[in-house]
Amino acid sequence: MPAKKKSTIPPSISGALLRWYDANARDLPWRVGPKARKGGERPDPYAVWLSEIMLQQTTVATVAPRYAEFLARWPDVNAMAAAPLDDILGQWAGLGYYARARNLHKCAVVVAQDHDGVFPDNEEGLRALPGVGDYTAAAVAAIAFDRRAIVIDGNIERVVSRLYEIETPLPAAKAEIKERLEEIWPKKRSGDFAQALMDLGAGVCRPKAPMCLLCPVSENCAAQKEGTQEKYPVKAAKKAKPNRIGAVFALTNAKGEMLFERRPEKGLLGGMLGLPGTEWKEKLSGDVFDSAPAKAKWKKTGEATHTFTHFHLTLDVYAGAAPKGFRKSVDQQWIDPEAARVPTVMKKAVGAAKTND
Ligand code: ADE
Repeated sequence: MPAKKKSTIPPSISGALLRWYDANARDLPWRVGPKARKGGERPDPYAVWLSEIMLQQTTVATVAPRYAEFLARWPDVNAMAAAPLDDILGQWAGLGYYARARNLHKCAVVVAQDHDGVFPDNEEGLRALPGVGDYTAAAVAAIAFDRRAIVIDGNIERVVSRLYEIETPLPAAKAEIKERLEEIWPKKRSGDFAQALMDLGAGVCRPKAPMCLLCPVSENCAAQKEGTQEKYPVKAAKKAKPNRIGAVFALTNAKGEMLFERRPEKGLLGGMLGLPGTEWKEKLSGDVFDSAPAKAKWKKTGEATHTFTHFHLTLDVYAGAAPKGFRKSVDQQWIDPEAARVPTVMKKAVGAAKTND
């Protein structure tokens, strides 16, 4: 492990970061800005929790409108707990891994039933909730309750690894990043401080071409002094993702509806609607048409590609009209393909099925 450099950064940089945040905080729909906060306004813990779950692995720009929809539909944790899981999964479409949506609902139920609808106000209590990991527990404790909890997301990792020229590759560098943050994290305004680091990382200390002239702590930044900003954070070499293939079948009826079926509860995109098709594997064996929902005149209309965390997927997309007398099974539904709330990969497949209409 590379030797840890002795820090020359004084804890007073937290003051400079907070002053920068006071003048430059982004106006985000889930955020109580620094001015309102100073005026005594407190964030709603439910809204903070919801936004932090939605923001994992999804950009601020994507989440902003979707967050507003969620909050309008389920304005508090009791409303979300009372909703059918299917409604939550449908509303989640396009936001990535559905395990997060399932846990969102599970967590709402636990808070509603076991905590009288009140979120725990500390990191440990939050960490015990379904779907709440180290990051989310710290973020909600800091932002909603101003607890001195050390929040580390991708933006914060980048800022800190540049400030201190941390040579250890991620993810192992996390421990060192946390130690450094412990040295500078303020006792007061913990939530603002976390969000100051996030905003600095998003807008100034960017992955490429950081804008160091606008940075309130550039004078303290080891990487800036050396001109090595883009080297940090150092990342462990990534394993190449394997390719998987499969086939899906877009069967249409006379009304122009498409046949969807619910995927098994366990596994990728569990419980979501999708087009019927084969398994997704590195190699397919047997006849793909054995996995078709009907005997039809199938025509290959295109391909849909999608990258998941652990593999790249290419689906051959076949389209066909339902034969006379076709009867769907109980786990299948005819849905207008434009209106279907389906995961992104299936949206792409539906698009590829319609290209040759
Ligand atoms: N990314 C994740 N959480 C965030 C927050 N609270 N503010 C800005 N960006 C974020």
